[in-house]
Amino acid sequence: MTNGKNRQYVLAARPQGPAKRSDFKLIEADIPSISDGQVLFRNTMFSIDPYQRNLMGNGSSEWPTIALGDPMGGPTVAVVEESKHPDFNVGDPVQTWSGWQDFATSDGPDIRKLDPEEAPLSTALGPLGLNGFSAWYGMTKVHTFKPGGTLVVTGAAGSVGSIAAQLGKLRGLRVVGIAGGAKKVAFLREDLGLDDAIDYRAHNFADRVRRALPDGIDAFFENVGGPIFPVLMEHFNRDAKMTICGTISDYSETELPKGINYLPRLITLIHYRFVDIKAFATPYVMDTMPEFLAEMTPLVKQGKVKYREEFIDGFAKLPEAMMSLFDGTHSGKKLIVRAD
Ligand SMILES: NC(=O)c1ccc[n+]([C@@H]2O[C@H](COP(=O)([O-])OP(=O)(O)OC[C@H]3O[C@@H](n4cnc5c(N)ncnc54)[C@H](OP(=O)(O)O)[C@@H]3O)[C@@H](O)[C@H]2O)c1
Repeated sequence: MTNGKNRQYVLAARPQGPAKRSDFKLIEADIPSISDGQVLFRNTMFSIDPYQRNLMGNGSSEWPTIALGDPMGGPTVAVVEESKHPDFNVGDPVQTWSGWQDFATSDGPDIRKLDPEEAPLSTALGPLGLNGFSAWYGMTKVHTFKPGGTLVVTGAAGSVGSIAAQLGKLRGLRVVGIAGGAKKVAFLREDLGLDDAIDYRAHNFADRVRRALPDGIDAFFENVGGPIFPVLMEHFNRDAKMTICGTISDYSETELPKGINYLPRLITLIHYRFVDIKAFATPYVMDTMPEFLAEMTPLVKQGKVKYREEFIDGFAKLPEAMMSLFDGTHSGKKLIVRAD
């Protein structure tokens, strides 16, 4: 309960390695007031995402971090509580970027009105939010892929990967998903209908990769990075296209990995096979969001793109929810914390 105050989870310390409970501090601030042209909204659902570790700093990311003492960042679904803005009414559901706090204000351009008739509100934090947008942008704008080729998606059971993989199927590619554990592999094959799926934790991973990729890799959607990449990169075909969406396996790392240095081999492969590697970050390409929503909303509405979500109840559970993305306990569903 908000108790007439604005609960905020602020960044108390920059993590050493993976984020831990003491890196966050729960404080109570006053509920902000608004002036003409502004809205006050109350957050009801909070999106939990791997890049939130990057926002905390002291990791591998070179992108901007939040300041110590500021609320943790991230997308939310909210309801308008008070409006002095002509385009918003009290009770309107909206998607915002206001992070881990009960209340926040906006001048309008950074919040998006939601239509609960069109899709469940939570989808604005999943397939019709940043996760779906990342998958769509990487599969549509970074590279275009010829039907008939083979697409490999890492982190394929996750919220971005599962959508990238389904877009690959819809665009006529043969899709092979990589994920951790037998349950996720079964989900990829049976529920999402991928052509093959491989458990990267299984002892025979390299053999399974060889068998699943008889015609090599034409397209690669990277969410994970880390030690499984050197196994996969050997299967790049000539003119293979790789889209780097994320490298979750190293977000908490501050030092180079120990062991074999695969970089010279990667450079050789890029050279001889003309591998085309590109990366993107959604904050820089938000102007394409309307195009994404126009294509994706009907696909989600008609069930042509499936998604899984898991709700955790209680504002107090935000830090644990985020930490679970990195400690191997997360099941691969989109994690959403509901405010109490
Ligand atoms: N470029 C952009 O603008 C943008 C925007 C949004 C997200 N992203 C990136 O997209 C990627 C996927 O995000 P998401 O929201 O869909 O995350 P997610 O898949 O819902 O959650 C994380 C999953 O990553 C896997 N994982 C975690 N640690 C790992 C490790 N050390 N090694 C291998 N796999 C690990 C786990 O799945 P398994 O059990 O299958 O390993 C875990 O379930 C992330 O890299 C994220 O940063 C990029």
